[in-house]
Amino acid sequence: MNFELTKDQQRIQQMAREFAQNELLPGVCQRDEEGQFPLELFAKLGKTGLYGLPYSTELGGLGGSYLSYILAVEELSKVDASFGIAFSVDTSLYGGSIVNSSAPDEVKKRFLAPITYGEKIGSFGLTEHTAGSDAAGQRTVAAKDGDSYVLNGGKCFNTNGPLADYTVIYCLTDPELGTKGMAAFVVEKGTPGFTVGKVENKMGIRSAQVSDMHLENVRVPADHMIAKPGEGFKLAMKTLDGGRIGVAAQGLGIAKGAFEIARTYMMEREQFDKPISKQQYLAFQMAEMQTEIQAAELLLYKAAMDKEEGRPYTVSAAMAKLTCTNVAMKVTTQAVQMLGGNGYMKEYHVERMMRDAKITQIYEGTNEIQKLVISGQLFR
Ligand code: CAA
Repeated sequence: MNFELTKDQQRIQQMAREFAQNELLPGVCQRDEEGQFPLELFAKLGKTGLYGLPYSTELGGLGGSYLSYILAVEELSKVDASFGIAFSVDTSLYGGSIVNSSAPDEVKKRFLAPITYGEKIGSFGLTEHTAGSDAAGQRTVAAKDGDSYVLNGGKCFNTNGPLADYTVIYCLTDPELGTKGMAAFVVEKGTPGFTVGKVENKMGIRSAQVSDMHLENVRVPADHMIAKPGEGFKLAMKTLDGGRIGVAAQGLGIAKGAFEIARTYMMEREQFDKPISKQQYLAFQMAEMQTEIQAAELLLYKAAMDKEEGRPYTVSAAMAKLTCTNVAMKVTTQAVQMLGGNGYMKEYHVERMMRDAKITQIYEGTNEIQKLVISGQLFR
């Protein structure tokens, strides 16, 4: 077993790290405060082709590894978890829906290539007010009319929703059949009847743009159907398996970012005539956290490699998501405590990281759903 990253993976990691430090860090507190997303920085990073990184060049991607993509999400999320999830949804939920689908290669390329270089942004519309953890509880419908489909319904908690040029909408062509009647379509921004609803005012990842999406008699050409009736639910589930590895990377990045802030602070901050890192009680807590971070990292990279190398990854993705996001919550909470009063102040970043960490335990399948997935495989 080789635990070394390849030269190419190290290069991507370094590039994302530098982008995060040089471009994301300067305005991260202000964006959190104002709930603004840095579209210009998203476009700037897109010029590197990062958003199509794990997908084949034949389909318009960059032909890199899934682990490289994961390393990039981790590095960006160390500094700005909102940017990390925007990237992850664009690549693994939108891009994943396209690439995992049964659409012809020409259609896949048409809808994937423009996101690779950040010219367009993608989003993933599965969740509805009646369909959260129970993704099968969809109400949005698509009715065939000539050579197009007419979509009606709505989605909620749609990350990138207000920004997206393309949104994959999962919906029922035959509501009687439940998940067996689920299809998926790419709906383009500006299509009549497709509108952005309430933009959420959130506890964390405040800079990420999350909204309802309304569909009222939205006419979509039949060649925008990427999952035929009956294929939609499985496409959503398979895509979420890949997405959960992305959220795990986001969680691990947040944990590592907060850990590093706490470590540096503890070496500088003096109380009782010595740096607080010399307080063995605190140093031991850091030792435990570092061990948990490394254990989480192993699960995450293993899940990415399972996907990369064609092994089943549903369970390893769920384990990585469960572990990395729980570590994120624990480490950020502890980091706030380590920094004392300063930890509670916005300019020290860790309070934002603690707020950002919370959502990673909730979206792309709550951690209870991850336990359902893991235990489901245990007792088959
Ligand atoms: N890959 C492929 N197929 C899968 C699959 C997977 N991972 N999981 C299930 N399936 C298939 C099953 O094999 C089954 O196929 P058959 O009918 O042929 O047997 C079919 O799908 C139905 O499976 P289940 O009976 O297991 O489905 P279920 O209704 O019991 O649901 C669930 C399972 C795991 C609870 C699922 O509903 C789920 O994952 N819920 C969580 C939803 C979620 O993660 N939402 C996140 C929204 S996106 C988000 O948060 C985005 C954001 O903005 C950041």
